[in-house]
Amino acid sequence: MSTAAELLAAARQLEALGLNQGTAGNLSVRSGDGLWITPSALPLEGLAPEDMVYLGLDGRSQGRHRPSSEWRFHRDILAARPEVGAVVHSHAPYATTLACQRRPVPAFHYMVALAGGHDIRCSDYATFGTQALSEATLRALEGRRACLLANHGMIALGADLPAALDLAREVEYLCRLYHQTLQTGRPRLLDREEMDRVQVRFQDYRRH
Ligand code: 13P
Repeated sequence: MSTAAELLAAARQLEALGLNQGTAGNLSVRSGDGLWITPSALPLEGLAPEDMVYLGLDGRSQGRHRPSSEWRFHRDILAARPEVGAVVHSHAPYATTLACQRRPVPAFHYMVALAGGHDIRCSDYATFGTQALSEATLRALEGRRACLLANHGMIALGADLPAALDLAREVEYLCRLYHQTLQTGRPRLLDREEMDRVQVRFQDYRRH
């Protein structure tokens, strides 16, 4: 399968998992000196791999459609984070619910460590498609593989598309659990030492 076909398949999977709908959200995958990215403002039905857009790191695109309006944060994340091969942005319902309260996800559950630290941050607000949003996103992702975007949605990163999709699904599940926990009382949080221990255990867990 070509990289463009893999990208389209991942976008379809994101929707099938209930993590995205309509023309919301966008995905990218590193390729050569640039990236493949989903086109802007087009629903997935009827799209073919040839509808995906190739973008150089200089922001110049090739293809029959405009690149996603969020090409700036996709490009900037891939340029700043060599370990990242794919970026998933979605308006997943529970993640977006918390993002609309600009509420980060604290260490209420040990699996929060999957995002790379002791919490999942929520970025500062900036208008969609702007360089300001890209900058806010990079700050929220410092030392992390996922973040919420204020009044907008979420981002998950991975070494490749399956890893980024997997993390997006985990983050949405954690946001659902956190939302539910908030309905039933005050969460009891894990401390930093415990979250550090979890990170160490994860390294071994994931190797197997
Ligand atoms: P695009 O259709 O341009 O990718 O925009 C959707 C979106 O979610 C903007 O944040």
